[in-house]
Amino acid sequence: MPDTYETPKRSNGPATPDDWLIYTGTRTPHDGIDRLPAPPPWRAFHGGEPLPRPAADTGNQHAAVSYRPGVEAIRQVNAALYLRRPLLVTGAPGTGKSSLAYAVAHELGLGKVLHWPITSRATLREGLYEYDPLTRLFAAERSRGTGSSGRHPQIDTDNDIGDYLRLGPLGTALLPYDRPRVLLVDEIDKSDIDLPNDLLTIFEKGSYDIVELARRANPSAKVMTADSTRDRVEIREGTVTCRAFPVVIMTSNGEREFPPAFLRRCVSLQMKQPADIEELTAIVREHLGGVLDGDDELPETTQQIIEHFFQRRGTGLLANDQLLNAIYMCHHAALHDRPESVMALADQVMPFLSGETAPGDDA
Ligand SMILES: Nc1ncnc2c1ncn2[C@@H]1O[C@H](COP(=O)(O)OP(=O)(O)OP(=O)(O)O)[C@@H](O)[C@H]1O
Ligand SMILES: [Mg+2]
Repeated sequence: MPDTYETPKRSNGPATPDDWLIYTGTRTPHDGIDRLPAPPPWRAFHGGEPLPRPAADTGNQHAAVSYRPGVEAIRQVNAALYLRRPLLVTGAPGTGKSSLAYAVAHELGLGKVLHWPITSRATLREGLYEYDPLTRLFAAERSRGTGSSGRHPQIDTDNDIGDYLRLGPLGTALLPYDRPRVLLVDEIDKSDIDLPNDLLTIFEKGSYDIVELARRANPSAKVMTADSTRDRVEIREGTVTCRAFPVVIMTSNGEREFPPAFLRRCVSLQMKQPADIEELTAIVREHLGGVLDGDDELPETTQQIIEHFFQRRGTGLLANDQLLNAIYMCHHAALHDRPESVMALADQVMPFLSGETAPGDDA
C-alpha cells in the first residue's frame, strides 16, 4: 500500500494488495460493505427480523467529506470491520478521532452516526435505553381520572410502555440492522472506571435485555430509538440482538489506561499528527479550498501560517483545527491588515494547548 493518503481505485483487473479494503478512505460513497465476508464464527450474531436501512446522515457532513484518513487508520478500520470488533482510537486533541466515525459512515453508506458523548456520569444503562415510569404513571392516572370527561384521551395502560421506553445510542446500534450502524463512543477515557468493562460484556454478546419489558405478560413493544421518537421499532421478548455488529469507534485522549481484558477485545489505532507540510496543506485544502480561492497555489499568507504552525507544533501541543481557524481568520484579515499583525493574529488564534508535544510531532 502506498505511503500516502490516497488509496488506489478499485478496478475489474487482477486483484491488488488493497482489494481486501472495504473502507478505502476515498470519501466517495459506495456499496463495498456488501462484500464484507461473513464474520469469524465466534463473532456471528443472529438478531431478529432485519430492520430497514436508516436514513443518511445529514449532520456533520463537512467532517465526513473533508476527512483524510492516514494509511494506518484505513487499515485498522478495516480490521475492525472484518473482525466485528470495536475500534479504540487514541490520540491528541484535534487529530481527527471523532471525524473518522463520520467519514466511515459517509463512505460506506451506514446512515446516521449514533453519537454517545461520555462523561464521568455516563452509565451503560443510559447508553442502552431509558425508561420513564413516573411520566407513565402520571399519564395513566390522568387518563383514569379524567378520561371519561374527554379532557385527556383514554390510555391503553397495558400496551403503552413503548411510549416511555427510548433506546440510547448503544441500544439502537445493536438493533438487527443488515448493514452495521456506526456508534461513536466519544471520549471513553472520561468515563467512570466500570464503564469499559460493562461495555465489554455487551460487545461480546451483541445483545441486551430490557428487563422492564421482559418481565411483563406481553414482553413485546414498539419503542423509540436514538434516531427518532416517531418511527418506532418493535422489540420482541424483551431482548435485542444485533445481526451486523456495529462499527463501534471509541475515542480517547489517553487520560486513562484501559484494562488488558478490554484492550484485547478491541482493534487499536493511535492517531498521529500530520507528518509533514504536504499533509497539512492537503487537509487545509480539503476544509478551506472553497474559501481560499480556487487556484492551485494557496495564498502566500496561508502557506506561511502552515509552516509557522508546523514549526510551533514541535514545541507545544497544537490541534489541526486551530490551524484551520487561524487560516480562515487571517485570510479575511489579510485583505485589510498589515502582514505583521496578520501573523500576530495567527498566534493568538492558535495558542499552545499544553507545553507537551503530541506523539508524532517531530517537527
Ligand atoms: N486527517 C484529517 N483530515 C481532515 N481533517 C482533519 C484531519 N484530522 C483532523 N481534521 C480536522 O480537525 C478538526 C478536529 O477533528 P476532530 O474533532 O475529529 O478531532 P478529535 O481527535 O476528535 O479531537 P478531540 O480529542 O478534541 O475530540 C476537524 O475539523 C477535523 O475535520
Ligand atoms: Mg473528538
